Amino acid sequence: MIQIPHTKKLDSTLDVFRDGYTFIQNTSEQLQSDIFQVRLLGMKVICLHGPEAARVFYDPELFMRKGALPKRIQKTLTGENAVQTLDNEMHHQRKGMFMSLMTPGNIHRLMALISKEWQFAGKKWESSNETVLFKEAQDVFCRAVCAWAGVPLPENKVRKRARDLGWMVDAFGAIGPKHWRGKRARRRSEKWIRKIVKQVRSGKLPLDDKLPAAVVAHYREANGKQLDLNMAAIELLNLIRPIVAIAWYVVFSALALHQYPVTRQKLLAGEDNYEELFVQEVRRYYPFTPFLGALVRTDFNWNGYSFQKGTMVLLDVYGTHHDARIWERPDAFYPERFRDWQGSRFDFMPQGGGDFSNGHRCAGEWITIEAMKISLHFLIKGIKYEVPEQDLHFSLSKLPTLPKSGFIINRVRRTDNFNPTIVAMGCPFH
Ligand code: HEM
Repeated sequence: MIQIPHTKKLDSTLDVFRDGYTFIQNTSEQLQSDIFQVRLLGMKVICLHGPEAARVFYDPELFMRKGALPKRIQKTLTGENAVQTLDNEMHHQRKGMFMSLMTPGNIHRLMALISKEWQFAGKKWESSNETVLFKEAQDVFCRAVCAWAGVPLPENKVRKRARDLGWMVDAFGAIGPKHWRGKRARRRSEKWIRKIVKQVRSGKLPLDDKLPAAVVAHYREANGKQLDLNMAAIELLNLIRPIVAIAWYVVFSALALHQYPVTRQKLLAGEDNYEELFVQEVRRYYPFTPFLGALVRTDFNWNGYSFQKGTMVLLDVYGTHHDARIWERPDAFYPERFRDWQGSRFDFMPQGGGDFSNGHRCAGEWITIEAMKISLHFLIKGIKYEVPEQDLHFSLSKLPTLPKSGFIINRVRRTDNFNPTIVAMGCPFH
């Protein structure tokens, strides 16, 4: 048996706070190994980097999710005991509920709502001195997803709800005030959505059975029982929150347009399939998901290394997207790299790797890609704007990160050219 490489440090928690997104890749390069062991908060953790390791990480026979997601993240980002923490049949069933919503028709309906919201937003921005794109994108997605799901959202509550959903995501790697803010935001959001689920179940809020809020409210587990009220609210939020989180990618798309103007020219010229290539490159190049965690399900050996049951394992997502062995010039923003991309489900994993239905890969990848394309189309073709002087730097230590300004634009003028083609690709199971 080969010993798993490790650093000389007794505990590496501070290094994670310092290096953030680059912690695993930096350490991996330093130790010249795609696997290494550290202690984080006193706990033994094995870190994995690269596609070969990702393939193992996504083997459900070897890894499980129960017990892997720290409570502090469940109390802010995901909700407690949600789909992200399930395994085996229970996971398969619950995931099925999410996947059943990812039909081309459903996705098309959501994209039409998002397009409409962008148009309204553009009109409003024309009379504003300054627009913070991050906030506006959150509001656009929040209005659209609530209308899509069947969740009533009065206009005077949009900012509050969208902000809370964003704070839940923002709390991911935070300690102290930001973590507490995320916790409070989750409590408020769960309370709001519990009320909706209750109303749907009692018929006080009559909804078409096919609308996402109704599907979640009426969903029955294998034992024939409905989800308890709290769990139903948590899972409905697991649909609403990540759609609002696409605002992060919209800001990074705007940043890329600003920092790499040649890509804007290509988009304006309507170069073949360039919107799709651009969106994929935004998801590769910019930091959002840093790493993923799972617990070793059973003792096993991999490449001569021994993994013991119950050990926490982290898979490097950001670092794998920036590995020069996989991506030529990984630190260049170059959408064309995706034109003939022959990648696998394990080297490009912005929303998780492996399989959708049996594994934990994100249920909303199609929605994300399509929503990003429509938003990009709006920024390119729907409006003209200027980007005033501001600090556009984003820190790789912060999880998740974003330019501090939220990307300010001004002098917005609408054009008549916003005609997005909605290609509603659904999940392959429909
Ligand atoms: C902002 C864009 C998004 C990012 C970066 C993202 C990222 C992720 C990641 C990294 C995972 C975990 C994968 C794993 O554990 O292996 C995940 C899971 C999940 N995502 Fe997303 N996601 C996004 C958008 C969405 C959308 C739009 C939806 C739904 C409409 C969604 C619903 C889910 C669900 C339900 C899971 C849990 C899957 C499971 O545990 O089986 N996500 N996402």
